[in-house]
Amino acid sequence: MKKTTISASLLASDLSDIKSAALRCEQAGVDMIHYDVMDGVFVEQITFGASVLKGLKRSTHLPVDVHLMVDNPTKQIEFFAEAGADSITLHVESSCDIPKCLERIHEREMKAAVAIKPATPASAALDFISQCDMILVMTVEPGYGGQSFMADMMPKVAEIRRYADENGFPELDIQVDGGIGADTADIAKAAGANVLVAGTSLFKSDDMRGLCSLLKG
Ligand code: DX5
Ligand code: ZN
Repeated sequence: MKKTTISASLLASDLSDIKSAALRCEQAGVDMIHYDVMDGVFVEQITFGASVLKGLKRSTHLPVDVHLMVDNPTKQIEFFAEAGADSITLHVESSCDIPKCLERIHEREMKAAVAIKPATPASAALDFISQCDMILVMTVEPGYGGQSFMADMMPKVAEIRRYADENGFPELDIQVDGGIGADTADIAKAAGANVLVAGTSLFKSDDMRGLCSLLKG
């Protein structure tokens, strides 16, 4: 089994002070920051964009993984590259030329990933596996933090892990996002996920460090 990486979703932090939130993550042993970008079109809410990330990058050493929940990600790739993003995930359900966007993300020296919503089959992500460093299987409907983990997404995680192993992509990272905490992390890991996004559980915990090492297992 691959080593587990913990990515903290800032969405559940005090958004007026994400600099302190990132510092808290760093001190707690979190591996990565998960930066949820919502445009009010692909999902209902609007969060933050590349200009806010630029400020954040000046104040954290942690890599920042950008989860683009936007209808048209193409232009955003350039903005986030300039802002210092370390990796970008785009949804296969969004309106863009996915292979071209993944190629551009790599050209800008970032890691590239595709995400699938709960109703989207694993095959829709597997179509792009040769261009992906990571595949994100959403374990909630994108749009809001604090929702319940959908265990019925685990067969998709297992299918992707099996396909990756059998087809020469043993290094593929599989990320799960939504409802991850002490009670669900093991289910996701057993299915083959190795990058766990946690927002609510981490930021609501009074022992972030303890929870972080528990999630890593
Ligand atoms: C949901 C976001 C998630 C979310 C995870 O649309 O993509 O990253 O913030 O948060 P929790 O851990 O609260 O489910
Ligand atoms: Zn996310």
